[in-house]
Amino acid sequence: MTNAPDDSTRDDFKDYYEGVKGRPPRPTLVQAADAFAAPGFAVDLGCGDGRDTVELLRRGWRVLAIDSSEEGVARLRRRDGMLENTALKARVARIEDADWPEADLINASFVLPLLDAEAFGRTWTRIGLRLRPGGRFAGQLYGPKDGWADRPGMTTHDRAAVERLASGFIVERLDEVETDEPTARGKPKHWHVFHLVLRKR
Ligand SMILES: C[S@@+](CC[C@H](N)C(=O)[O-])C[C@H]1O[C@@H](n2cnc3c(N)ncnc32)[C@H](O)[C@@H]1O
Repeated sequence: MTNAPDDSTRDDFKDYYEGVKGRPPRPTLVQAADAFAAPGFAVDLGCGDGRDTVELLRRGWRVLAIDSSEEGVARLRRRDGMLENTALKARVARIEDADWPEADLINASFVLPLLDAEAFGRTWTRIGLRLRPGGRFAGQLYGPKDGWADRPGMTTHDRAAVERLASGFIVERLDEVETDEPTARGKPKHWHVFHLVLRKR
């Protein structure tokens, strides 16, 4: 694969992790976690260096964190207290090829748009199957006006498609946001993002 300096589809996320170092958990993850009366078992797909995983662990959740980047998973494991934390399991794998046990919460922050359409479909189906009744999905999809929409291997959804994906769930958050903000790697970008929190019936 040839990689532009700001190519979100590339496997090397090292400079992304540097760019997001110390950032707080995603608001979608916080909203979903807040909605549970008690912590349970969560899967963090595309966990990166663990900004959402560590928040879940802090709240008493057990977490299976999965990312295709060895660097991301190594950075998660190097975070304070992680090596001895028995509530964390971390795995290097592509989420479209991975499977995981039934979960109360499946989080996928800014990763699902990085899958091609076939891999996305497979993964979305598995998310629905692996959520327990009453469980929640939190994460993002990209809209067609996103600056990366034309990049090979990426998948976008217009609002109607997002609503179709969400239709089997109770929708707790479906925010469509367009902004012009630099990426974690410091490049200008137009963002067209759907922020989702969905509850399985
Ligand atoms: C934009 S980062 C988001 C990281 C983290 N969830 C966050 O919100 O900061 C995307 C992450 O997804 C991972 N990733 C990309 N494609 C993946 C795939 N097919 N399977 C698993 N992880 C993937 C990358 O390694 C990277 O850590």
